Amino acid sequence: MTLIQVPKEKAPQAHPNVMIIFGAGGDLTSRKLIPALFHLCKDHLLPDSFAVLGVDRLELDDNGFREHLVEQIRDHLGETFDGEVWNRLAQRTHYLQGNIDDPAMYLRLCERLTRIDAERSTEGNYLFYMAVPPRLFGGITSNLGAVGLTTETEDDWRRVIIEKPFGTDLESAIALNRTLHETLNEGQIYRIDHYLGKESVQNIMVFRFANGFIEPLWNRHHIDHVQITVAESVGVEHRGGYYDTAGALRDMIPNHLLVLLGFLAMEPPNSFESQAVREEVNKVLDAIQPMTPEQVLTHAVRGQYGEGIMPNGDKVPAYRTSPGVDPASRTETYAAMKLSMDNWRWAGVPFYLRTGKRLPAQYTEVAIQFKRAPFVMFKDTEVEAIAPDHLVLRIQPNEGIQMSFGAKIPGPSMRVGTVNMDFNYADYFGNEPATGYETLIYDCMNGDATLFKHADTVEKGWEIVQSIMDVWSALPPRDFPNYAAGTWGPKAAGDLLKNDGRLWRRIATPEATNQG
Ligand SMILES: NC(=O)c1ccc[n+]([C@@H]2O[C@H](COP(=O)([O-])OP(=O)(O)OC[C@H]3O[C@@H](n4cnc5c(N)ncnc54)[C@H](OP(=O)(O)O)[C@@H]3O)[C@@H](O)[C@H]2O)c1
Repeated sequence: MTLIQVPKEKAPQAHPNVMIIFGAGGDLTSRKLIPALFHLCKDHLLPDSFAVLGVDRLELDDNGFREHLVEQIRDHLGETFDGEVWNRLAQRTHYLQGNIDDPAMYLRLCERLTRIDAERSTEGNYLFYMAVPPRLFGGITSNLGAVGLTTETEDDWRRVIIEKPFGTDLESAIALNRTLHETLNEGQIYRIDHYLGKESVQNIMVFRFANGFIEPLWNRHHIDHVQITVAESVGVEHRGGYYDTAGALRDMIPNHLLVLLGFLAMEPPNSFESQAVREEVNKVLDAIQPMTPEQVLTHAVRGQYGEGIMPNGDKVPAYRTSPGVDPASRTETYAAMKLSMDNWRWAGVPFYLRTGKRLPAQYTEVAIQFKRAPFVMFKDTEVEAIAPDHLVLRIQPNEGIQMSFGAKIPGPSMRVGTVNMDFNYADYFGNEPATGYETLIYDCMNGDATLFKHADTVEKGWEIVQSIMDVWSALPPRDFPNYAAGTWGPKAAGDLLKNDGRLWRRIATPEATNQG
């Protein structure tokens, strides 16, 4: 295969601004946010008129904060760490020590920002990033509002990035939106889902709408069903305390999986402007009917892993023995469901979603299974013997697109086998290190909200899973743990498809495992 390396587009620098990170001493800041700023700085996408101001309760000054960060990001960036780039970013990095709950701290924040504006010519544009536990989102916003830091003028902007989780159910998401709207306009709120920062997710739109041959096939006439898999091989690691109150359904479905579904199923927007795209995504979520309690029993599956052996041979303990987890926990570490859409394009096409922890692979994909040919005329080749054609959009790892279809097996007799055509991003565009946050932070600095969630999108996502959460909490599981670590989830998940005469797609793992 001849590889064509496509040069990266040279994008303009972001608008001047100060990015204020609340929770600057935490995990997200050191693992994702500062490395993302490092990559933007390396690509010369941050303007000279830019500064970072970290806010946290760690007792540090500017230099201490820079030293604290460099130690951490050296570890995270490994060989890609570059001292010259770091120095450029570090010179623009500042720190404010204080208690985020304390209204008086915000007066000091105002003074500090006025000074940074003057020194760095950042033009009074502020991007506030909430890298703190969700219970603090509302208080920070009110405190910022009280000192005038959320008030925009014709000359400057004020934007707030809100981290996930955005609420823990429909009611809390509505309440959080209401609190934010007391201080901010919807246009100032950027609800982040780092899945949307992945090139391969954005490429779903490009693949669908920039290629004329795809769209005519993208409907119930040609597609049999769709499978979305977000598999994690890791357990809960140090997040046991949080995870045990959330579970796989809350943690993954309303955000990551429904985001993928929205991009996959939406109608072509009139433009790639944020409002047009978000409206189409919302229409998809509107078309998904929340399940009745009876449907929850047959269309949704939950699981929790017990001890087991991973494909690499590692023996791993049960979820219930993880640090921070209740030894009698009934929290699900696996969720699968069948969703249907009430609209012209997708009526009758099931969308099967599955996600879980301690599955055999760390892997995310969307698989579109096309309908079989109605009649196969080749002698001795039964329709049933030919595997259906698939289009697989691989999100991670090895982002790419794979098409599998029938081809003639060489030889005198007419036999058909399945072959693959595989496109890997890295082959064409190289393998640039990225955290997934680069595009999103850059877009927010430029006021482009396309890849962020609107209040309605968040609430619609919760509406879809609320009916499942209600039934699951009313009927606690009796069979947990019901799958072994290192397998593809509970038997009932396999039955969900088998009952419809289908199978989950076999995903390659270091060692083949039963995907039932
Ligand atoms: N980490 C990730 O990979 C990740 C991924 C997706 C989403 N998120 C979201 O991102 C947010 C941050 O997560 P994280 O993992 O970075 O949390 P974290 O490690 O606990 O960091 C939060 C930071 O905020 C500080 N803080 C908390 N309350 C404060 C207060 N009143 N005044 C001053 N500082 C205060 C904490 O200090 P103390 O340690 O002293 O409390 C800590 O340094 C959360 O909403 C999380 O759900 C994180």
